[in-house]
This record gives sequence, structure tokens and C-alpha cells, in this order.
Amino acid sequence: MRRDLYAAKGIILSRGVVMRTIVNGKPIDISAITGNIKSVKADLLVVGMFEDKRFEPLLRVLDRALKGEIGKVVKAGEFTGEFGQSAGISSLSALGARKLLLVGLGKRERYNLEILRRVAAYGARAGRLLLMKSVALALPTPKASATETGQAAAEGALLGLYRFVQYKTVDKEKLKELQHVTIICNKNDVKELTAGIGEACKIAEAVNWVRDIVNMPASERPPKRVAAEALTLRKFGVKVKVLGRNEIEKAGMGGLAGVSRGSAQEPQFIVAEWRGRGPTVALVGKGVTFDSGGLDIKARNSMTTMRGDVAGAAAVLGALKLSAQARLPLRVIAVLPVCENMPGGKAYKPGDILTAYNKKTMEIADTDAEGRLILADALSYADKLRPTAIIDLATLTGACVVALGYEAAGVMGDAKLVAKAKTSGEATNERVWEFPLWDEYKEKVKSDIADVRNIPKGEGWEAGAIAGGAFLSNFVTKTWAHIDIAGPSWLPEDSFYATKGATGWGVRLLYAMLKKWKA
Ligand code: BES
Ligand code: ZN
Ligand code: ZN
Repeated sequence: MRRDLYAAKGIILSRGVVMRTIVNGKPIDISAITGNIKSVKADLLVVGMFEDKRFEPLLRVLDRALKGEIGKVVKAGEFTGEFGQSAGISSLSALGARKLLLVGLGKRERYNLEILRRVAAYGARAGRLLLMKSVALALPTPKASATETGQAAAEGALLGLYRFVQYKTVDKEKLKELQHVTIICNKNDVKELTAGIGEACKIAEAVNWVRDIVNMPASERPPKRVAAEALTLRKFGVKVKVLGRNEIEKAGMGGLAGVSRGSAQEPQFIVAEWRGRGPTVALVGKGVTFDSGGLDIKARNSMTTMRGDVAGAAAVLGALKLSAQARLPLRVIAVLPVCENMPGGKAYKPGDILTAYNKKTMEIADTDAEGRLILADALSYADKLRPTAIIDLATLTGACVVALGYEAAGVMGDAKLVAKAKTSGEATNERVWEFPLWDEYKEKVKSDIADVRNIPKGEGWEAGAIAGGAFLSNFVTKTWAHIDIAGPSWLPEDSFYATKGATGWGVRLLYAMLKKWKA
């Protein structure tokens, strides 16, 4: 099942090209290395073991060098190889590495790229926790190419090392960052593995950029700041156009104009485009920089994390950045309605009727169902560009979190697009789960006084995630899928390489979909 990770004989090490990237504002070097594991220099050598406790040649070499210490730890039952377990062992100066960390890989037959991402993150974070400078990872290759393996290991480490600490001024000495990550591999794999590491650096930079944007305090990241972040993509050949309040009103974007009226912050309608040669894919992202609920104001507990309501727009920017950097043979257009939902004196009110960009009228039954109103404009704008597909990402409903928790986003819409999202979701572990969009649900969002109403008839909460999708379906005529990311885009706790708060969810999913796009 696995190739050898290393060459046990000889002492010569050979290192692939060293990739330098930035995590948490600090440089970090990451590279592949091959040769005798005993001479790999690092503060911490992370070695994986399955729960069948079978000693790989690699473990045998290390165990011998450490005079049977690994075997003793296993025999004593201090380490079982279960996933999530670990045991530290001193290297007794018998190795190039100062310390050894055994990490559990779980069941051999269940090992895959996702487990690799997770243990790589675990190892890198363990090293940092011990205030070390360098970590070397000796982890098995799953059933995958060397490029995918390198990418997964590096992605796990670089994403797992992210933390939002820009605002910390005390305890700085505890915030030392790791400086080197080395991935130990088979002699024949160095080149491919390095290519994967390079790809992972780009991906982690994009995801961590998105995490920073979403984690930032809402008062420091109004719509104009989001537009400024979008403008930074110009250096990758992305064309960026930004409309302000007047232009939004003049264009007839009544949803965005209406929702933003109660806020002192000017709304922005951002259109950013990577013009590769190929089919056009429109990515639409909900960009509510803060969702107070508006006049239907939220309870305090549900408002605390609402700076995260910009996650859809930010994830789309991340995917666009990667598309441009990779010069994908696609025309990728990001359409981002960005505003704040506030209950100011000019705020839109329950009972108001807003007219969307496609001229459909929308009855406001709840000012807290604001995302779909600004997406109505953005979707109909995207639709007019006649793309082959439209995908929207939105932190649209709490109901989606009730249904799926933090493990998956809800998806609905065109069957083929949904299938693409499912496939790429499995590959990246940014998974989606489908909800139906039957006509009966669309009936529920029809209004008695306008074309549509923004919460369904009934008590308003029934099938909440689907009601959101059903509402949005009124603003597209082309192939479209809606992804509700309210759950996975913001986590209450760290979860493997996904970190507490903003996760940047959707960047890897969208990029994977675009990379393998076939009309
Ligand atoms: N931004 C929220 C949805 C949300 C909830 C995102 C929890 C992330 C975590 C959205 O604008 C909202 O308030 N939706 C309402 C819809 C309801 C009024 C039909 C909700 O979910 O309660
Ligand atoms: Zn809301
Ligand atoms: Zn919202």
C-alpha cells in the first residue's frame, strides 16, 4: 500500500527546493528531504504509527538507534497508534533530531490524504507548542500520487499553524512561530513532492488570507476594506471594478441598496475577473461585514460571531486569487455584494418592498434574512453575463448549521454542479450535503404583495436552509448551485487543521472544482 518513505542506508541527505511562505506574518521554510532518517536534523521528528503497531522499516531503524525505546513505550501501553494519540521520546543524541514524537495514524486501511493533513497539522503544532524552530515529518504515503501527498502534508501543516494573533500585545514570547518544516520522503519522490508543497504554499496563503479577512473586527473591515483586499488581486492580473452607493442605486440593485441603508458604512458591489481563455464561471459570495439582524435585531449570543458573515465573499476572493496565480484556462468572475446590516434610522423595515437587479420585487418579512436580498442582485447580475455556471457561497442560514453542524455545507441546485461539488468536496474534505429544491419549497417563498418574500410562509423557520435556496432560485436562469457555508466557515473550536473562528472554508473546494473544470 505504501512506498518506502526514506532510504535507510547511507547518510547522505538530499533536499528538494526549499519553499518559503508566510504564516501569521512570519516566514516559514518548507521542503522535502530524502536520505537516512537518522541524520535528518530537526528539533522534533514526527513519526507516524498505525494502531496495528506493525513496525515499518522506518520504525525499526529508529527503534534500533534508540536502543529499543520505541518498543518499550508501545509495550508499556503508553502509545497505541490510535488516531489523535502521541508520545514523546528523547532521541538520546542518537539521531539528528533532538526529540521524537510518535503520532497515532489510526487504522491502516482508513489512512488517506485527510488523515495525513490532520497528523501533519498535529505534528507542526506540537513542535510550535514546545517552542521549537523546526519539525520534520515522517508520515506514510496514502494511496495517492507523490504530488498529492506533498500537498496534503504541507497543507495540513501550514493551515494548522494559522492563528489570529495580530491583536495580541501581551504574552508575545509564547507566540513564537515554527521556522522550518521538512517532509521526509522516498528518494524518487522529492521532485513531485516538492511540486505538491509549492501548490500547498499557494493554497495556504490564500486560505489564511481569507481567514484574516473574516476574523478581522467588523469595525476595521467595513465594505471598503473588503474592496481594498479585492484590489490587491490586480497584481495577479485580476481586473477589479467596484461600485459605491450611488452606482448601486442607479444600477437598480435594490436589495444591496436596501439592506445597507441602516448602516453608516457605504456598500460596495465588487466585480473581479480572472480572464483566462475558456468557459466563464461566475462565483458569487455573500459579503455582510457585520450582521446585527437589522431592525429584527439578533439576540446577543447570536450576534457575537457575525463579523463572520462576510465569509462567502472572502472565500470567493481566495479562489479567484488561486485561479489567477495558476492562470487557469477559465474566465472566473467574482461577484460580491458587500454591506453591513444595521438598524440605523434609515434602515429598511419589515413590510418594505425592494426591487432586485432583475426587476423582481421582494417583500421584507424579516430584516435578518438579508443575505438573500443582496445575493438577489448579485446572482441576477452574474446571470446576465451568461456564464456556463454560477456558484454562490453564503453564510445564509442558522438552519443549515442545525441540519449539518460544522462538518459540511449545504448544497442545492443544478444536479451536475452539485455532483462536481460533491466530488471536489470529498477530495479536499470541504464536504457538501445536498438539500432538495422542490417546487413546493419555491411556493413557500411567494409573496401576496410582491413577487417573493424573504422568509417562507408559515412560522418562517421551516426548512430554513432550503427556503434560502428557493428564494435565490428566482434570480438565476443559468446553471447554478448554492452553497450554504454558515456552519463550516466559522468554528467554535479548533478542529484539526481548521482553526477556531474563520476557517477559509470553500477556497480549497472552489479551487479544486475550477482546476478540474470540464464545461
Ligand atoms: N447570517 C445569518 C445566518 C447565520 C447564522 C450565519 C449563524 C452563521 C451562523 C443570516 O443572515 C440570518 O440571520 N439568517 C436567519 C434567517 C431567518 C431570519 C429566516 C437565521 O438563520 O436565523
Ligand atoms: Zn441575518
Ligand atoms: Zn447574514
